Amino acid sequence: MDRVAVIFGGRSTEHAISLISAEAVINAIDRSKHQIVMIGITLEGEWKLYNGPIELISSGKWEEQAVDLPIDRLPDVADFCFPVLHGVNGEDGTIQGLFEMMDMPYAGCGVLGSALAMDKVAAKMVFKANGIPTPDFKLVRSSDVKEHAGWEAVLCENHLDYPMFVKPANAGSSVGISKVRNRDELIDGLYEAARYDSRIIVEHGIDAREVETGVIGNEVPHVSVVGEIRATHEFYDFEAKYSDNAGTQIIIPANLKEKHVDEIKEIAANTYRALDLAGFARIDFLLEHGTGKVLVNEVNTIPGFTKYSMFPMLWKQAGVSFTELTERIMEYGYERYNAKNNR
Ligand SMILES: Nc1ncnc2c1ncn2[C@@H]1O[C@H](COP(=O)(O)OP(=O)(O)O)[C@@H](O)[C@H]1O
Ligand SMILES: [Mg+2]
Repeated sequence: MDRVAVIFGGRSTEHAISLISAEAVINAIDRSKHQIVMIGITLEGEWKLYNGPIELISSGKWEEQAVDLPIDRLPDVADFCFPVLHGVNGEDGTIQGLFEMMDMPYAGCGVLGSALAMDKVAAKMVFKANGIPTPDFKLVRSSDVKEHAGWEAVLCENHLDYPMFVKPANAGSSVGISKVRNRDELIDGLYEAARYDSRIIVEHGIDAREVETGVIGNEVPHVSVVGEIRATHEFYDFEAKYSDNAGTQIIIPANLKEKHVDEIKEIAANTYRALDLAGFARIDFLLEHGTGKVLVNEVNTIPGFTKYSMFPMLWKQAGVSFTELTERIMEYGYERYNAKNNR
């Protein structure tokens, strides 16, 4: 029986969501096949080994019973790593680099795929180079915003029409994102995004339905059914995502024309390959009202994994239980590790 380290928490704005996801993943993993090692990372970045009740993870109470775990002891306590970390320092290639350095097999995308998907500008550049449809965008540097925000706003207007979305290149959970309708709002949005990252992406805003699909696999991507997210908020912001359950509705499968489903699945597989993704990922689309155009919005390489999250629900609808899903993800992790070592 292998020892699977489920790693949760982390130095991220999405720390709390990671705890809820991890609790669900730990409960889903087949205990007759794997021994689970629970490893939490505090908001301050300290690694801890936890051996208490699973249900104390999501509330954060696990920290009181956990003991320090020096990072270099990771290979002594586990054979396989399953990071259930969202956002920076977990979903962005950093911890994946640590696993590579330690020569440990792990679940999900590698360093490059994680980093590309996390950075909204880098991801979009790869989309463009591979003919993957995505809303038009412009890169803005935060240092330039601090010097002459008005000028940067004019440059955005030369490229893009209102409304626009202003986002920090690397963030997550809609932190620092604004929808803007005029120059004043654009300038405010640029200042707001500049607080979170040195690079900002400004995108053309699409009037669209939001649909998502789950992909698993390595060389051959397998795509799930397509689901839809409906938000009653202005856009699917942090509050709509996590604090206000009544504010969102998940519809699986999405009510779509067959040609749209086929197109979304094909673009999802192409996106997965273009970004060099592995293991699993959730790919989010905008389906434009009126034109019916399918555009990729973003990719999440460690999507929400709670029982009520889109990713496991999409696979459930596709006939893959939560337990089976964790099993396949771990198999892909081992497969990738073995392929690398036998090259
Ligand atoms: N170009 C766009 N056009 C229309 N809506 C958008 C666009 N970009 C983002 N949104 C809206 O903002 C939300 C958050 O943006 P997203 O890029 O998904 O950030 P995050 O990484 O924080 O999830 C999306 O779910 C969608 O509702
Ligand atoms: Mg999103």
